[in-house]
Amino acid sequence: MASISTMNWLFVCGVSFCLGGIAVLSLMPLSSDCICPLSNPLSRFSSAASAASTYTPVKHESKRPHKLALLVPFRDRFEELLQFVPHMTKFLKRQDVVHHIFVINQVDRYRFNRASLINVGFHFAGDVYDYIAMHDVDLLPLNDALLYEYPSNLGPLHIAGPKLHPKYHYDKFVGGILLVRSEHFKLMNGMSNQYWGWGLEDDEFYVRIRDAGLQVTRPQNIKTGVNDTFSHIHNRHHRKRDTTKCFNQKEVTRKRDHNTGLSNVDYKILKVHELTIDGVGITVLNVLLECDVNKTPWCDCNGSAAAASAVQTK
Ligand SMILES: *[C@@H]1O[C@H](CO)[C@@H](O)[C@H](O)[C@H]1NC(C)=O
Ligand SMILES: *[C@@H]1O[C@H](CO)[C@@H](O)[C@H](O)[C@H]1NC(C)=O
Repeated sequence: MASISTMNWLFVCGVSFCLGGIAVLSLMPLSSDCICPLSNPLSRFSSAASAASTYTPVKHESKRPHKLALLVPFRDRFEELLQFVPHMTKFLKRQDVVHHIFVINQVDRYRFNRASLINVGFHFAGDVYDYIAMHDVDLLPLNDALLYEYPSNLGPLHIAGPKLHPKYHYDKFVGGILLVRSEHFKLMNGMSNQYWGWGLEDDEFYVRIRDAGLQVTRPQNIKTGVNDTFSHIHNRHHRKRDTTKCFNQKEVTRKRDHNTGLSNVDYKILKVHELTIDGVGITVLNVLLECDVNKTPWCDCNGSAAAASAVQTK
């Protein structure tokens, strides 16, 4: 895709470096910018357990014992990513949160599937990180009182609560930015894989939270309100939301999905890029989602994606 070819020039910490550098890296004090999460991201392909075992926690002065994986579902948002990475890094550094940014880049031609991308990101990082942030790339926190802390045992911590989010103000809203303990994400079987196109996957996740006996907590005593708590860098004229509904999408996506989730998300990771934006090392996963058009035909309303994907995987 176009934005990735643009990114190639930013390619600094390549896979060959990571492979060759494992021994060196474990001796060298790493800069706190690059918390290389998995010494060898590709080992993930052979087995999840081996990836987790090759991980050497970085010596970090942080008093916080928990590690956060920011999972950023992504497609064609290069300018937003260029703002997001330095902003979040500075923001989280002020809070001393040990973290790493994973951009989950959907490269197939099916409609965007935010929830499945989060499931894929969790498969990649969930064993090594204690909690995840499902994080929109276009929503930047401005208020330092929004603490990205390890969620309490009650359940997920919704940073972009309805009293703070610039746009969504209903009580059950859990979109935008949601922090979830890895153990809780597993308990809920992650998110539904049925949501192709924009919207509603977060509302279904709300029901999963409730069904698991968990509850959503939100930051308290934030005084900056709906206009000044976040910067919403989304340009809705330039980036039209894909709100099409086709086949029986409308009917199915209004119901709780008991069948799909983390356990059966169907995907391939085509490539893992370690790249650097303004000195910050991030990991980009190029993900090819598979869609069973007999089950969720609305992943491809007009049949154009299947043809495009067939060409792409040859
Ligand atoms: C937020 O901004 C909108 C648009 O400028 C304005 O109408 C609204 O009153 C503001 N809300 C608050 C709580 O300041
Ligand atoms: C087919 O559907 C996709 C995704 O909904 C849309 O972007 C594209 O414009 C459609 N193509 C045609 C020819 O209608």
